[in-house]
Amino acid sequence: MTLSHQLHQNLPVPHTLPSSATSILEAAAILRRGGLVAFPTETVYGLGADATNADAVAAIFEAKGRPAYNPLICHVANLAAAKRLGEFDARAEKLAQAFWPGALTLIVKRTSDCPAAAAVSAGLDSIAIRVPDHELALSLLVETDRPLAAPSANRSGAVSPTSAGHVAQSLGDNVDLILDGGNCRVGVESTVLAVDGATPVLLRPGGITIEDLRKVVGPIELAEIGDTDQPKSPGMLESHYAPNLAVRMNAHTATPDEAVLAFGPVLPENLNAALNLSPDGNLDQAAANLFDYLRALDQDNYTGIAVMPIPDHGIGRAINDRLRRAAAPRPSRPE
Ligand code: TXA
Ligand code: MG
Repeated sequence: MTLSHQLHQNLPVPHTLPSSATSILEAAAILRRGGLVAFPTETVYGLGADATNADAVAAIFEAKGRPAYNPLICHVANLAAAKRLGEFDARAEKLAQAFWPGALTLIVKRTSDCPAAAAVSAGLDSIAIRVPDHELALSLLVETDRPLAAPSANRSGAVSPTSAGHVAQSLGDNVDLILDGGNCRVGVESTVLAVDGATPVLLRPGGITIEDLRKVVGPIELAEIGDTDQPKSPGMLESHYAPNLAVRMNAHTATPDEAVLAFGPVLPENLNAALNLSPDGNLDQAAANLFDYLRALDQDNYTGIAVMPIPDHGIGRAINDRLRRAAAPRPSRPE
């Protein structure tokens, strides 16, 4: 039995606290003892554990039902802390300077004395690192004084959480404490960029757009989703971010029993229960609403979720990536 399990059995859970100096101290103490704390970032809520504690890291995989081959992101307070975990060449440093704190995760080689548990990297010699742009997350990192491994705080394969309530729904008492920082500003996960090879490779579109990345580093390769022979990122599984209902993309019409996830001012006829990601057609607003609305429409009385077309540029790429995976066939969906 891991320390986290013992701790977990002794705590009245689920246990949610608003942001305050005291709740941050409590959260940091739990993390230093090897427990699990869900905390907000600007993208989505993370399920955090001390990245240097192998038992605590194992507890993340268990709580999420996450396959052991899918590595985790390490969150740190600044570039100096990142450099203790990974090797930053000039290019990686330039990216960090340009986008941190922010929704960019950099994959770099682990340092030879990297203190993060091997399971964080799922045994790879690289490590994913980011500095979140969120005051509460940064205070927690400073107070804990450890790198925090934190995947999105949901069951593996399910929709990511953008509020404390989503975390409680998804993980229940599998987490020792949930820090409530309100709704996440960005709403989709960080962009994952591998800078451990010759050309940077985009492994996951996210909160920082490819257009902005290219302005700083020039050419970027786009990894193919579902490139299962040689997955560059073990997290590039086809079905992911999936609600229970089937998801249908690029819908211009809907059947009467489908729930509609709309975008923009012109709505399909026959629509039922439409939630509009952004009536003005604003992609940032659509990203911020995406996961909350997918959850809200995911009800048994509908036959599926029909999603209207979303422009595929800027953060729209990240939105379409998540929707594509929500709509993907689900041969081996957990639960
Ligand atoms: O916005 C975010 O990135 C959120 C917040 C909490 O920071 N975190 C998040 O973590 O989305 P997660 O675990 O759901 O997604 C991490 C992604 C996965 O696709 C994983 O495969 C990839 O990053 N990844 C992590 N380490 C990697 C590595 N060493 N090499 C390649 N891909 C890696
Ligand atoms: Mg995730």
